[in-house]
Amino acid sequence: MGRTLTTARGGSETSGPVRASPPFRRILLVGFMGSGKSTVGSLLADALEWEYADADDVVEASAGRSIAEIFRVDGEARFRELEHQVTTGLLEREDLVIATGGGWPCRPGRLSSLPAGTLSVWLRVEVDRILERLGGDETCRPLLEVDDPRARVDELLTERAPFYELAHWSVDTETHTPKDIVRELLGRLRTDEERLPEL
Ligand code: S3P
Repeated sequence: MGRTLTTARGGSETSGPVRASPPFRRILLVGFMGSGKSTVGSLLADALEWEYADADDVVEASAGRSIAEIFRVDGEARFRELEHQVTTGLLEREDLVIATGGGWPCRPGRLSSLPAGTLSVWLRVEVDRILERLGGDETCRPLLEVDDPRARVDELLTERAPFYELAHWSVDTETHTPKDIVRELLGRLRTDEERLPEL
């Protein structure tokens, strides 16, 4: 179907770059805070020789303020507007791996109407691992600055799962290192070519 993936310089999953052809032009990583989107995203971009963008970083750079400050001063609704503007802009670019903020996909229509050529991947993670990975430092995640972060994570995960489930692919991050996840994705991109979703 013309969706060829070739390995430049005969490289393997771990060594050589892998090139993806159209119609597959960008990969969108979604998942809860602490699911590893940033780490996996930059490793995956390196392997594909694509660029990498973290939507949270772009929001902060364009607002000239930290996310915590935007939440504090302007409120969550304003943050969500900025986040949506930034993510929509990133989705117009090509040869790009995008790590979304954990809340962006969780509105009706977000993952179900992605621009053509976008492969979405959900990095799945459970409550214990999230709390462990965030290491009790919720100060840069305003949504978790609450008395009982575990209960909050639990509640948000339950609310959000039906949205994350709309991603084309999902990968378990519980028992795999970021490198393993990238290897797994590269393997799927190669071997599941015929099974790539309609993009
Ligand atoms: C949020 C996740 C954060 C950041 C903001 C809100 C959320 O991004 O966008 O604090 O609603 O889950 P990460 O998922 O990159 O931590």
